[in-house]
Amino acid sequence: MMDAETTDSDYRPHPKIVNALDTLFVLHAEHELNCSTAAIRHMASAQSDVYSSLAGAVTALYGPRHGGANEAVLRMLEDIGSVDGIPQFIKDVKNRKKVLMGFGHRVYKNYDPRAKIVRTIAEEVFSIVGKEPLVDIAMELEKIALTDEYFVKRKLYPNVDFYSGVIYKALGIPTEMFTILFALPRLAGWLAHWYEFLDDPHNKIVRPRQIYKGYKRRNFEQMDQRQRRVDQDLNYEIAVTEVRREASLDHARAARRSQR
Ligand SMILES: CC(C)(COP(=O)(O)OP(=O)(O)OC[C@H]1O[C@@H](n2cnc3c(N)ncnc32)[C@H](O)[C@@H]1OP(=O)(O)O)[C@@H](O)C(=O)NCCC(=O)NCCS
Repeated sequence: MMDAETTDSDYRPHPKIVNALDTLFVLHAEHELNCSTAAIRHMASAQSDVYSSLAGAVTALYGPRHGGANEAVLRMLEDIGSVDGIPQFIKDVKNRKKVLMGFGHRVYKNYDPRAKIVRTIAEEVFSIVGKEPLVDIAMELEKIALTDEYFVKRKLYPNVDFYSGVIYKALGIPTEMFTILFALPRLAGWLAHWYEFLDDPHNKIVRPRQIYKGYKRRNFEQMDQRQRRVDQDLNYEIAVTEVRREASLDHARAARRSQR
């Protein structure tokens, strides 16, 4: 559908691409009380309207530690640049200058079962639209990280987002749309939580209790001397490609030829 033009009355996307997107959507569906789901329950508890509550969940999802990770993985791979850049990158991770995006999970501490399926999908997609060059870096990075003591000791494994970004890139989806593709399959689950929260008479407004254990007294620090903790780089380049559409058209042509 994404590629159909007004003249394409019988256009059908390539079935393997359809299957890849379907599977990615299932794998990205809402599960358990993750950050964005907890957020929508929080909003629902205040009786905020459904649109604003969903906006809250989307906001949580978009962060690079959560659903924004697939986009962050891609930017990380682009930064590494080539397989030769991996040793320096790993060094930076160990020195806590960088984070290996797409690795680690708050709950899955042995393996993210979704990651294995995403990897298979990647192979399928690449067989149609060609291999995304960044995948070589991703595969080598994964290989090194899985045997490196730093990651092994901390039980850090690839998560669902390690390969999903490369798949979306290979499909020609602009990088800044990746989180949207994550949000779509999460919507049904978020809405179910919103409804459930409203219907349950036991639910009250969420109000976590705080036990303050912080500083008692702190000296004032000038703004320009404060350490910068968050790097917010929001200048994205939009990459547009026709590969996905062309692959689907080729497939349809081949199917027509074989029927003749
Ligand atoms: C997902 C994530 C937020 C989970 O965090 P967490 O369960 O709170 O993990 P912790 O912060 O307790 O990490 C445990 C240790 O592993 C390290 N670690 C965790 N994830 C890491 C990563 N991706 N790269 C490098 N080190 C990592 C932490 O620095 C910590 O080291 P320490 O014990 O020496 O201080 C975290 O792994 C992360 O930021 N991953 C990258 C983002 C990502 O891919 N998110 C998508 C999740 S589906």
